[in-house]
This record gives sequence, structure tokens and C-alpha cells, in this order.
Amino acid sequence: PRVTIVGAGRVGSTLAQRIAEKNLADVVLLDIVEGMPQGLALDLLEARGLELHNRQISGTNNYADTANSAIVVITAGFPRKPGMSRDDLLKINAKIVVDAAKNAIAHSPHAIFIVVTNPLDVMTYLTWQATNLPRNQVMGMAGVLDSARFETFIALELGVLPADVKAMVLGSHGDLMVPLARYATVNGIPITELLDAATIERLVQRTRNGGAEIVELMHTGGAFFAPASATSLMVESILLNQSRLLPVAAYLQGEYGLNDIVIGVPCRLGCAGVENILELTLSDEENAALQTSAHSVRQNIQRAQE
Ligand code: NAI
Repeated sequence: PRVTIVGAGRVGSTLAQRIAEKNLADVVLLDIVEGMPQGLALDLLEARGLELHNRQISGTNNYADTANSAIVVITAGFPRKPGMSRDDLLKINAKIVVDAAKNAIAHSPHAIFIVVTNPLDVMTYLTWQATNLPRNQVMGMAGVLDSARFETFIALELGVLPADVKAMVLGSHGDLMVPLARYATVNGIPITELLDAATIERLVQRTRNGGAEIVELMHTGGAFFAPASATSLMVESILLNQSRLLPVAAYLQGEYGLNDIVIGVPCRLGCAGVENILELTLSDEENAALQTSAHSVRQNIQRAQE
């Protein structure tokens, strides 16, 4: 199979490396900057013999070269620059993402789309709209990353192996995300048995602030290693039809009492994309947080379209 990555920046190029080196698919990297995706692809190809895989990796500025992709990942867009409002960024990235989605689907009409560009839930909604695809074929990556961050902070606090920690973060990607601390476990033992409420709350706050913490440390741009890993996990579950149950930004039609909106919910990911959405019983507090999160996404969808 072939995976196209639109936007060969830090997340896009790292994702290309992950997909090829995990031997999941051939990769096409597309960017508007001339020469850059071609150069990155050549660099990755030169590592192929050393990393012992045999995947094709190519770079292009032309959507015709992305034809018949099984999956299209959209990471194209800009981070906020000084003096730019969130609204400005919202409109700039909306135009880039809608353009990318329309161009990509013209050459890969059966593709599954995974959106990474921020603001994530809004960009995923616009991609669903622009492609006119069934809702199972369009999704956004956020919850897998946010959950991995929550799991990391729990593992660090307890001094246990990160892979033994399982947690899920729902809702929108940003300050209003909904980490489900009640469901987090270390090999099946609820963290509420292992940590006091104040510590859990501190880890939840660090998770909400996870992206910003890295931006503050790095000054130049945000995270990309863990975002690329999270996206590659979703690609893998789809291409290998693994049916993993992951938090994914999906288009809702009545689930969780929400309609015509994209937000992070637990989804089974397989070869059809979002195979189904699991409706958890949420506490009043968790449900209120999810509804608040959805309200803010809805406002931003409207702003993006004004
Ligand atoms: P980056 O700036 O390194 O890469 C973005 C790339 O998009 C650049 O190479 C740029 O030339 C390209 N681009 C711009 N307009 C384009 C167009 N019209 N067509 C094709 N390519 C175009 O940024 P980075 O760090 O890779 O982040 C990319 C996006 O992903 C940002 O919006 C960021 O906020 C988001 N992000 C989302 C995460 C999530 O959890 N959903 C996590 C990390 C990043």
C-alpha cells in the first residue's frame, strides 16, 4: 500500500521515517516547498539499506504523484507566529487543509484521511466536509498522543514501565481535553489505588499542558517525535486491520449526545477506518467536560467558515 503525507515538515518527515522503517507502506511526501520533500525522500532512501527495509519513499510537489494512496495524512499548515491571533491561524490552516484534502481525494478517491494539522478537531471536520467521504474514512490524530503523554506522566510518577500504563484522553485537542483518570490503570490496577487525588490532578494538568510544555522548552515549534509515533500507530491499525480501540477525533452522529461535530472518542480502527465508535458511560463531570469541549470546537468550526 501507499501512504501520502501532505506537509513534509517535522511531523510529516518523522512520520515518513516511522512508516517506512516499520515496513508498513510505501510513502509519498508532498510539500509546497520545491525540492524539500524530494531531498528528504532521498535522505530516507539512503538509510534504507542500513535500516533493512525495502519501502519506496518519494518526494513531490505534485498531487498526481500521490495517486491511489490507501491513506492520506495531512500535516500541512503553520504554527502561530508572533502577532498572529488564533483566529488568523485558524483561517490560514483551514485554507491549506481544505486545499490539500480536495487535491488529494481527486487522485485517491478511496483513501482514508488522517488529519494532524491544528486546531485538530476543526481541521478534521473541514476535511470530512471537503472530501465528502463517509464519516468512517476521515479522522484526526490527537487522543493517541494526549493519552501517551498522560501514560508517560503516570509511569514517571510511579517509576513503572510506560508500556504497562494504559489511559484514554477524549474530547478536543487542547486545553479542554478530557483525560479519563478513572479508567487509567497500571496492568489493570486503577491508578486511583496507587496515587492520591491531588497527584492525579497534577498529572492531568500536565497532560492538558503537554504540547505547550514542549513549545516552551524548544522555543522553535512544537513536538513531533511522539505525534509521529501516535499517527503511525493509527496508520498501522488501519493498514494491518488490527482493530485497536484508540481515542480518535471522529465525526459524531448522535454519539455522546453530539451531532455534526468532530471530537475525540474511543474508536475501533481497522481497514475501513473508524469501524465503530464506543459509547462509554461517562460521569456527570466527564460528560460536562466533553460537552464544553464540543462547544468550543463548534464555535471554531463556525469561525473557520466565516
Ligand atoms: P512544520 O512547519 O515543520 O511543517 C509544516 C509543513 O507544511 C511545512 O513543510 C510547510 O511547507 C508545509 N505546507 C504549508 N502549506 C502547505 C500546502 N498548502 N501544501 C503542502 N504543504 C504545505 O510543522 P510541524 O511541526 O510538522 O506541524 C504540522 C502541523 O501539525 C501543525 O499544524 C501542528 O500544530 C500540528 N500538530 C498536531 C499535533 C496533534 O496532536 N494533532 C501534534 C503536533 C503537531
